[in-house]
Amino acid sequence: MQAPFGRRPAPVIRRTAYGPYVVLTVEDASGPEPQAGQFYMLAAAARWGGGEGERPFLPRAFSVLRARRGQLEFLVHDVGPGSHRLCELEPGDELLIVGPLGIPFAPVRERRRAVLVGGGVGIAPLAILQDQRGADAVLLGFRDADHAAAAALLPHARIATDDGSAGHGGFVTDLLGEQLHGNAHAEVLACGPPAMLEAVRQLCAEREVPAQLALESGMACGFGACFGCVVHTRKGLIRLCVDGPVLDAARLESAVGVGATAG
Ligand SMILES: Cc1cc2nc3c(=O)[nH]c(=O)nc-3n(C[C@H](O)[C@H](O)[C@H](O)COP(=O)(O)OP(=O)(O)OC[C@H]3O[C@@H](n4cnc5c(N)ncnc54)[C@H](O)[C@@H]3O)c2cc1C
Ligand code: FES
Repeated sequence: MQAPFGRRPAPVIRRTAYGPYVVLTVEDASGPEPQAGQFYMLAAAARWGGGEGERPFLPRAFSVLRARRGQLEFLVHDVGPGSHRLCELEPGDELLIVGPLGIPFAPVRERRRAVLVGGGVGIAPLAILQDQRGADAVLLGFRDADHAAAAALLPHARIATDDGSAGHGGFVTDLLGEQLHGNAHAEVLACGPPAMLEAVRQLCAEREVPAQLALESGMACGFGACFGCVVHTRKGLIRLCVDGPVLDAARLESAVGVGATAG
């Protein structure tokens, strides 16, 4: 489904904290139903820009976390000027949104079973994926127990933390290795930091398991106009906002160092 032309207001209904993350629930009664893996360009209607160095100038891309009953949810990690402003929003404030945008996760191949793998804020598109299509296994990795509070957003997930303060002590790819052991029918759908995606890509390639990876790149427009989101694939450069953000792992030489950040 194509996004309606132009940005539209979406009033904030709820703001819920999960450890260091914030889930913003907004009203979008008139927008099309998004598919798992699609994203929206977000900006606060008030006080967007005017921070340090007048940033953020540009809207920011956010995966849709959930969509139901005319409401959208986004999972925000406060890491810079754009995400910080979004985390300040309270019920009654207004968000400006464009979306849904981009290519969603494809249906898993015939006779394959979906194994979802998420890292940090990259768990967002996996929640709506689990809602819409279910999953055979959900494996999530976080820095520590505080960040792992967001695992509550995905039922029945197995958790790994880098410092061992919750779940398995180690990387989520340890859990994926176990999951793929002797499982010839998996297809992996993953989103997370580049290093995690690259480890997932390599593990799947070694075991000849198909994988779809939701990547990130700095996005200024979100709909193909600025070429700011260009990433390298085996067959040349693509615009991640219109040709992704979900790519078949076989298209990538590497999932590390493919993109840049927005201004
Ligand atoms: C398709 C797509 C989906 C996305 N979905 C989400 C989402 O669901 N939730 C979410 O929080 N963000 C998501 N992002 C990232 C988001 O668009 C912004 O890039 C991010 O919020 C940082 O913007 P900023 O203005 O706060 O910080 P910036 O000024 O852009 O960055 C500040 C600093 O933080 C670093 N940084 C940027 N992004 C991250 C990050 N994710 N983790 C750690 N450090 C980072 C930068 O390298 C820089 O040093 C997505 C991006 C894309 C392209
Ligand atoms: S973000 Fe502008 S072309 Fe992709």
